[in-house]
Amino acid sequence: MNNFTYYTPTKVVFGRGSEGQTGALVRERGCKKVLLHYGGGSAVRSGLLDRVKDSLREAGLEWTELGGALPNPRLSLVREGVDLCRREGVDFLLAVGGGSVIDSAKAMAYGVAEEGDVWDLYCGKRQARAALPVGAVLTIAAAGSEMSDSSVITNEDGWIKRGYSSDLCRPVFAVMNPELTMTLPVYQTACGCTDILMHTMERYFHPEAGMALTDSLAEALMRTVMESARVLTKEPENYEARAEVMWAGSLSHNGLTGCGAGGDWMTHKLEHELGGLYDVAHGAGLAAVWGSWARYVYRFCPERFARFAVHVLGLPAGADAEETALRGIGAMEDFYRELGMPTSLRELGVAPTEAELALLARKCAAACRGGGGAVRRLEEADLAAIYRM
Ligand code: NZQ
Ligand code: ZN
Repeated sequence: MNNFTYYTPTKVVFGRGSEGQTGALVRERGCKKVLLHYGGGSAVRSGLLDRVKDSLREAGLEWTELGGALPNPRLSLVREGVDLCRREGVDFLLAVGGGSVIDSAKAMAYGVAEEGDVWDLYCGKRQARAALPVGAVLTIAAAGSEMSDSSVITNEDGWIKRGYSSDLCRPVFAVMNPELTMTLPVYQTACGCTDILMHTMERYFHPEAGMALTDSLAEALMRTVMESARVLTKEPENYEARAEVMWAGSLSHNGLTGCGAGGDWMTHKLEHELGGLYDVAHGAGLAAVWGSWARYVYRFCPERFARFAVHVLGLPAGADAEETALRGIGAMEDFYRELGMPTSLRELGVAPTEAELALLARKCAAACRGGGGAVRRLEEADLAAIYRM
């Protein structure tokens, strides 16, 4: 078992009607002027934004608003938001939306609190020392940004998508009403479930022995998400399934399913390049590359992959760990197909040329400072081979 630090300062307010508490939650922090940040309009159309404004009004708070955060949120809007916050004297960032809106708000929170270009954090030039407080009203169960320490931003100059992690940007509260996710298109729900699974899978697949409790929590979480995702393909308004997935999304990325264990994260690194270059949905990009990554590396810790096949997918254990591992990888890809997720770049709708494959691998290797991964260290040639698979 590895030493670990587990830090989850986010106050979670979960359940029907919880968005009505938003104003009071901001006021608890002693803040006065809010930037209300949202995405392309789903929160406006559903009436959620108006309900949140009512709640801010009731709490006696002032606000200014900025919509338009795109999936794979852009640096240019972050910069616009930083300027707006400074002009308006904003002291609290409230994100109403999914991972993209929350990440965009987190980047603004860094940008307002300190001088200097906020992109410096994402390209590794410096570390953040301060951030404004961020709160989230979550509308999609997926990225886990509502409790995580990360944010992922795309710089349009070179279409570079990079993450930055620091405890400074963990949201101070997360309002989670599963009913708010019922308006999600089926495809987006499936992308979300895939991302949630992947956040635990990235922590679960590692060569070292883990921690029995963490493994059991991780396996229960993955089984629950798979079961609920299947229900939601047929019953998108099933509250219990929406609630299971929403809570799993937060627990999958707040650190809990990695305590005492390790983590690989190369599927995410491979996806971030696809998101940056082709603007694909994050969950779909993960599903498209995971099987190829798994087939490329499983021989380096077959027991772990075999355990996944048995404990998560419910397959019978075979005498040979490698054979069980391979059956598990195939079964997981079948599950992704069942959800309507792609399992290759072609199915993702991306057809990179040889030059683009090389570019993806080069950018991915650069993002990992030459290479990365725990199951097996992957360098540029390995990354190119996986994209090609
Ligand atoms: O923009 P709107 O109109 O709101 O539409 C969004 C968007 O088109 C829509 N949507 C969200 N809630 C809805 C809804 N449509 C109908 N009803 C609702 N209730 O869904 C689309 C996707 O939204 P987005 O916020 O992009 O989804 P997600 O939460 O999956 O976030 C993806 C981003 O998060 C990053 C990803 O890389 C990607 O950029 N990640 C962030 C992480 C973190 N901060 O910890 C970790 C993740 O691994 C991930 O990398
Ligand atoms: Zn993710």
